[in-house]
Amino acid sequence: MRLFKTIAGVRTELKSAWQTDQTVGLVPTMGALHSGHLSLISHARQDNDLVVVTIFVNPLQFEPGSDLEQYPRQLEQDCQICEEAGVDIVFAPTVGELYPQAKQVQGTETQEELTHVVPPASMTSQMCGESRPGHFQGVATVVTKLFNIIQPTRAYFGEKDAQQLAIIRRLVTDLNFPVEICACPIVREESGLAYSSRNQYLTPQQRKQAQGLYQGLKRAKQALEQKQVRDATELLEILREDAPWSPSQFDYTALVDPETLQPLKKVEKKGLLALAVYLGKTRLIDNMILRDR
Ligand code: PAJ
Repeated sequence: MRLFKTIAGVRTELKSAWQTDQTVGLVPTMGALHSGHLSLISHARQDNDLVVVTIFVNPLQFEPGSDLEQYPRQLEQDCQICEEAGVDIVFAPTVGELYPQAKQVQGTETQEELTHVVPPASMTSQMCGESRPGHFQGVATVVTKLFNIIQPTRAYFGEKDAQQLAIIRRLVTDLNFPVEICACPIVREESGLAYSSRNQYLTPQQRKQAQGLYQGLKRAKQALEQKQVRDATELLEILREDAPWSPSQFDYTALVDPETLQPLKKVEKKGLLALAVYLGKTRLIDNMILRDR
């Protein structure tokens, strides 16, 4: 496994792979690697000749006042995890390497100084985008840069971030990137809690409460499957009831089309049921695809 911190370095390494038509699988991450990331890496390992993991805490996608400084950084440990998982290349640039034009990079202010990518407002204005203005522009911009730098055959994203996944699929279609987007299922702890780098912020009591996200999703899924509850209002009520936190701690609950992210009145074939919750200052997200059989 080789670690590169510069664009020139990683591109020199990749040159022979591009010239000999080897397939390159890209797994973009912000580091603090856990079992969710490892599942993406293992899918990439199965499908490609070369696996590239990028580790970059992208300041452009952190809105002012968010957890940019606090976000866990552990490059040495992450490199060891990558080595053991059979990764060929880790690309971990500095902020200056990726954004040399910006004096100070964070969120929407920097977007005024930089060329950046703006996904459709219909996909970014609701759900996570509503409480995180500029977030998905920051994600789309960094992912575009990584696609241009690494030129992967395939890129791997988790269904855990369902809104991000839908937006990246649209980005690739709308801007004609020659890359195949591969979606990987959510990896959960035994308790049902989805792995997240932000779980590190939780107190033991909040970690227990956090199991309520999956419990709520499961309740709604059961209501659809066992009692044929398809109506969005009813499903969202079921998702919210019995939550082990107060109603004000919900950021949002939504039932949307998984591709367009537009709200659904009821589950016809497929619906994305998603929620975000504040436990203390930590914002956790989770989701489940509901299917009407
Ligand atoms: P990060 O939060 O590090 O996540 C990297 C990838 O891992 C994302 O595609 C995410 O959906 C996936 N992932 C995280 N937890 C998962 C879980 N429990 N199960 C399955 N997949 C999981 O998402 C980002 O970084 C950034 O926005 C990035 C795309 C790297 C752009 O900066």
